[in-house]
Amino acid sequence: MNEEDAPPRAANLRRRRLVAATSAAGAVGVVGAAIPFLASMAPSERARSAGAPVEADLSRVGLGELATVAWRGRPVWILHRTPEMIERLSKNGHLLLDPESGRGQQPDYARNVSRAIKPEYLVLVAICTHLGCVPTFRKDVAPADLGPDWPGGFYCPCHGSRFDLAGRVFKNVPAPLNLEVPRYEYLSDTEVLIGADGRGA
Ligand code: FES
Repeated sequence: MNEEDAPPRAANLRRRRLVAATSAAGAVGVVGAAIPFLASMAPSERARSAGAPVEADLSRVGLGELATVAWRGRPVWILHRTPEMIERLSKNGHLLLDPESGRGQQPDYARNVSRAIKPEYLVLVAICTHLGCVPTFRKDVAPADLGPDWPGGFYCPCHGSRFDLAGRVFKNVPAPLNLEVPRYEYLSDTEVLIGADGRGA
């Protein structure tokens, strides 16, 4: 059997794994606006050109931390949300333009308040829906520069768009849409495949 004839599961085994590594605990908070662009193994040239799905190891993303992997040449975030972060999501609706995620920026299984399969882990394309900048991760509540209503989220420094910790866009900012949730699926309790799900790539 040649490679093209191989069944999908066998093909999965050949995929290069991207392992999201986290920075030291607390580094995110110290760095503040800086996104910890975390070490990952580059996929093969072939996988890159084909836009192949990539795997990420959730066990290496600390509680409350953000990891980044590359998929199709774009950064994809994995946020390991704390119980407090998850609880705040249901209290942000009055601040948001599309709190129910009605505008098609996610697969159906992520059309919920956490915009995720499991609330603990958010998987999100890290590209602002205004003009394509990479927002910054601002998880602290009500910092002086973002104001008392800031519930923690992502802030785009290019033109000031704001998104909550589910990537939902705020009202009255330039970005018109929530951040994109890519297709993904769980391969195990600690591994996700980004860029494909049971319905395909
Ligand atoms: S690119 Fe993000 S606000 Fe303009």
